Amino acid sequence: MKDLNILLGVTGGIAAYKSAELCRLFVKAGARVQVVMSQAATEFITPLTFQTLSGRPVHVSMFGRVESGVEHIDLANSAELMVVAPATADYLARAATGRASDLISSVTLAFAKTVLAAPSMNTNMWNNPATVANLATLASRHGWHFVEPGAGELACGTSGAGRMAEPSEIFAAASALARRDMEGLRLLVTAGPTVEDIDPVRFISNRSTGKMGYAVARAAARRGAHVELVSGPVNLPHPAAVECISVRSALELEAEVRARASSCDAIVMTAAVADFRPAAIAPHKLKKAPGEDERTIALVRNPDILAGLGALYGEAKRPLLVGFAVETQDLLEAAKAKLAAKKAHLLVANLASDGFGGDTNRAQIIDRGGNARDTGKVSKDALADLICDSILEKLLG
Ligand code: C5P
Repeated sequence: MKDLNILLGVTGGIAAYKSAELCRLFVKAGARVQVVMSQAATEFITPLTFQTLSGRPVHVSMFGRVESGVEHIDLANSAELMVVAPATADYLARAATGRASDLISSVTLAFAKTVLAAPSMNTNMWNNPATVANLATLASRHGWHFVEPGAGELACGTSGAGRMAEPSEIFAAASALARRDMEGLRLLVTAGPTVEDIDPVRFISNRSTGKMGYAVARAAARRGAHVELVSGPVNLPHPAAVECISVRSALELEAEVRARASSCDAIVMTAAVADFRPAAIAPHKLKKAPGEDERTIALVRNPDILAGLGALYGEAKRPLLVGFAVETQDLLEAAKAKLAAKKAHLLVANLASDGFGGDTNRAQIIDRGGNARDTGKVSKDALADLICDSILEKLLG
């Protein structure tokens, strides 16, 4: 936390008073804290409280006194981490839809680094599908992190989920997000499906969303690594501070990976590479013939990119090769066999039923010594951090 620049956003909920303690914890840990409050938050606690604790003027209004520059952009550029506590349902809705209707939402929209939010609201508001959808959007599309509210007595007199997490908990989550333990490392991450064209309008592919690979790229970049992300076609935004290379086919993916491999410390192969591709790509749209009831398309084997890297670097310590395996049965056995066959250093294995397409996963991280670490069911962001931990352990161990 020492010398870390933190933007502390405070929006209008009763839990705003707890954020004074959070601000104090950040300052005590050596961080530089800049507080931005919504107008509604000032109804619950005065800017003077935060100004006194942070030692800096607090920003509230879009059209306040500005010394120079453009206030919301300067504020957004001034920090490495933004922590919003409490984050109200309305603020989360505005953030999820990209609104910039006041200073704090404008700063949020312009902020391109790590965001941690601590929601706080009534139980029905928390369980409302609109709020659930807004959180899912912020997590999956914007890579936000959350300290989920606890259950207990609420200010509205009811009891249930919605009470903001304690300042100490938010502080611990922020500290974990602030670590820069991958600084100086170069990571290559592959993600998404490959698309193997049949003709100009048809292809063979698979249902990989790319979420896991993008989460690994985001986590490693946040922790200070230089990250190159080679991705097949996915519907995900480019992670901030990551060099993104778009590919379509397995052969294109292989060429990009091979060109970059030797300069990397670790290669994380989350991509769902198609095992086969059409033997030829028809130059024009294929037509069906009258009476044609069956069609056979000749397929040829794609290279196994990971196994190719294993043959080149499997005996070396670097680049560390991390493979992924989705299985439907006999997870550990199949994964251990795959790790050996491909000469990977680590293998992240999961059951298709546990993670495919969704935002959570449960995996076993397996090494050559046969050690398997069960991650339990976690968000793909949390799993990405656990994979980064295992990579660091192997590289530094
Ligand atoms: O053999 P399987 O497809 O289950 O192996 C999965 C692992 O191998 C993943 O890490 C994937 O990125 C990689 N792979 C590859 N080239 C292929 C097929 C899979 O690099 N042609």
